[in-house]
Amino acid sequence: MSLFRKKKKLDSHSMKHGVGLITVTKPNSTIAEQFRTIRTNIQFSSADRQLKTIIFTSANPSEGKSTVSSNVAVTWADQGSKVLFIDADLRRSTAHRTFRVSNTHGLTTILTAKQADLNESIKKTEVNNLYVLPSGPVPPNPSELLNSSKMDQLLKALVDQFDMIILDAPPVNTATDAQVLASRVDGVILVVPQGVALKGAVLRARDLLEKVHANVLGTILNRAVDTDSGGYYGGYYGGYYGGYYGTDDKK
Ligand SMILES: Nc1ncnc2c1ncn2[C@@H]1O[C@H](COP(=O)(O)OP(=O)(O)OP(=O)(O)O)[C@@H](O)[C@H]1O
Ligand SMILES: [Mg+2]
Repeated sequence: MSLFRKKKKLDSHSMKHGVGLITVTKPNSTIAEQFRTIRTNIQFSSADRQLKTIIFTSANPSEGKSTVSSNVAVTWADQGSKVLFIDADLRRSTAHRTFRVSNTHGLTTILTAKQADLNESIKKTEVNNLYVLPSGPVPPNPSELLNSSKMDQLLKALVDQFDMIILDAPPVNTATDAQVLASRVDGVILVVPQGVALKGAVLRARDLLEKVHANVLGTILNRAVDTDSGGYYGGYYGGYYGGYYGTDDKK
C-alpha cells in the first residue's frame, strides 16, 4: 500500500461516540505499547527544550488526530505526570464523548467569560493523573477565540498547574486554527494516515506550519482501514499502528 493515496470521506463517528481508548481498555496490547513508544519518542525529540505544551494536528479532517492524541495523553498520565488534555478542535469536538464528561463548560466558556473558573471546566477523568478540558459549546468564531490573548494567558496559567498539556487541534488545511495554536505551543505532531493522505495536502500542511515557525517534532503514521470495502475506519482498531518519524526523515 502506498503512503499517499486517494481522498477519503469524512467520518463523524468520533463526534457522536468519542474515540476508542485502547490504552485504557487494553493497556497490554501491542497497539497500547505503540502509543507508549510514540510518547517516549516525543519526549526524546526535543532534547534541548522542555516540552510542556504540544498539539496534534493533521492535514485534513478525520485522519486520526483525536484517537492518537487522547491515547498518547493516557500513556503520558500513566507515567505519573499530571496531564491536561484540551479539546481545541472547536468545530469537531470529541473529548467530552471520549472521556464522558459534561461539555456545558469548557475551553470556549473560559475564553468568553469575563472571569472564568477553571475548576468548573477542567474535569478529572477515570484515568489517574489525566484531566480534560472539553471544547465547551461551539461558538460562531472559533478562530478568533483561539487567536485571542486570553488563550495565551490560559495556556500560561495551565502550564503552571500541569506537567504536560496535550491539545487536540483542528486540521491545518481547512482553517487557520491549527496554525494559530501551533505558534503558541512548544511542539507540533502531524498525524498522517497511511494510504489515505494526499501527498500535496501533507506538504501543504507542513508548509503552513513552517510559515508560523511551528516546532514540528515529527509525524505519526496512523494506519487506516481500507475504504474500498466501504468499511473505512468505523472504530475498528485491528489494523492500527503508530509509527513515529522525526522531521528529518520525511524530507
Ligand atoms: N488507525 C485506525 N484504525 C482504525 N480506525 C481508526 C484509526 N484511527 C482513527 N480511526 C477511526 O477513524 C475515525 C476518525 O478518527 P479521529 O476522530 O481520531 O480523527 P480526527 O482527525 O480527530 O477527526 P476530526 O477531523 O473529525 O477531528 C474515528 O472513527 C476513529 O475511531
Ligand atoms: Mg478529532
